[in-house]
Amino acid sequence: MLVASNRGPVSYTRAEDGTLSARRGGGGLVSGLSAIGPEADALWVCAALGDGDREAARSAQGRLDTGDTGGQPVRMLDIPSGTFEAAYHGIANSVLWFTHHMLYHTPLEPVFDEDFSGQWAGYEAYNAAFADALAQEAADGAAVLVQDYHLALVPGMLRARRPDLRIGHFSHTPWAPADYFRLLPDDVAAQVLAGMLGADRTAFLTARWARLFAECCARVLGATVEGGGPPREDAAPEGLSSDDAAPEDFSLTVTYEGRTTHVGVHPLGADGDFLRERAHRSDVADRLAQLRDQVGTGPDGAPRRVLVRVDRTELSKNIVRGLYAYRRLLADRPEWRERVVHLAFAYPSRQDLAVYRDYTAEVSRVAEEINREFGTGGWTPVVLHVKDDFARSLAAYRMADVALVNPVRDGMNLVAKEVPVVSDAGCVLVLSREAGAHEELAPDVLSVNPFDVRETAAALHSALEADPADRAERTRRLAATATSRPPARWFLDQLEALPG
Ligand code: G6P
Repeated sequence: MLVASNRGPVSYTRAEDGTLSARRGGGGLVSGLSAIGPEADALWVCAALGDGDREAARSAQGRLDTGDTGGQPVRMLDIPSGTFEAAYHGIANSVLWFTHHMLYHTPLEPVFDEDFSGQWAGYEAYNAAFADALAQEAADGAAVLVQDYHLALVPGMLRARRPDLRIGHFSHTPWAPADYFRLLPDDVAAQVLAGMLGADRTAFLTARWARLFAECCARVLGATVEGGGPPREDAAPEGLSSDDAAPEDFSLTVTYEGRTTHVGVHPLGADGDFLRERAHRSDVADRLAQLRDQVGTGPDGAPRRVLVRVDRTELSKNIVRGLYAYRRLLADRPEWRERVVHLAFAYPSRQDLAVYRDYTAEVSRVAEEINREFGTGGWTPVVLHVKDDFARSLAAYRMADVALVNPVRDGMNLVAKEVPVVSDAGCVLVLSREAGAHEELAPDVLSVNPFDVRETAAALHSALEADPADRAERTRRLAATATSRPPARWFLDQLEALPG
């Protein structure tokens, strides 16, 4: 079996003493694959992302044994930096990510010109490098699981090189409705879809994204779509409707140029066992004590309420509107002043892109503005942490009275599933109806339109006022739903569902 993704399960950095040290990454795929263990006999093919990775890849001719980080063997591809930049920053993160999350400010963006053509050629070359490596590594009839929007062309390219392989593709992002997806140049839109249809099976985190993908195949390629029910852009707000099949039974096929690709749904859940154990280690207890000190007590001597958010500082996570909603709450409901603290953890991401740097600066600016406007000598309304610290995130999950997860669009969002698992005394989840997790969690959350700051502020108020017993009961139900498809099962389900 082979797994292919842009970001691999480990990253290498050169330490001060000159040695290369490996760090294991997180995420569903890493835990899914490592839960199966070495007997899976899997090779993970990924790109060398930084200087440390490149050095490690060169010194081992690309093939790394990551046993010391608890992982599977990895082959890191040392892709020429110009090609990598064009593919990763230029196309994957600036065009495909923006399309799938509908992030463009369309009066000025996107512009598809000569620069774009050059970047697209880089994306093709980068996908071809993966297809070559996979074709070279795969045993006869092996299963190859290709991940995400970075590698949309790989299934088609790999099938052309190795028709014997069983090829799966998985999208960790949402998918855009055809009217939006078609802002891509026609040839590029067609290449992305046809590339993914090179797989025997292409899967998504929710039925909503799967249907939208099929709708794009029908509209852009003229492909034949069968099953899955009609594409419904509004499928998420009420959660899974009664006519929705369970993800296991979801059945949809797309036939294009004589080949049929199955389209599946696999909602990734939280890793309950790991999280519960990890959240009770001593480093988390230390962080909990520090955060309790920071939060402090209100004028009545009672501990202040805690509103938590934890995200990559990612445009789609909607952090700035979340802060606007909190500001609205403090302005409209003065009774909460001095009695609540917003722990906002926003970890830098994709800082090579100017638009992400600007967004990161805007998050800080608005947080400071709120603190200037409402803060007092003994009360800081927003405590913004930007240094990634998993133990501190878990401590915040444990103590949260309310968690705000308000992305404008999100494939799943695991924070929404992790908080209820770890919560000490129950936590009210204010959740965007545009997050994939909403399809499963809707019955026990306060749902919001992520663009409506007034509604979000009102939801924060209701959440802060929630009855503790009701809150604890809902949290228990959320935790059960959130952990029903842990990463190992999610991964094995995909493997078993691969036809052939
Ligand atoms: C999303 C994508 C992943 C990606 C991650 C972090 O979750 O679906 O493929 O690895 O973001 O983004 P980065 O650009 O840092 O890899």
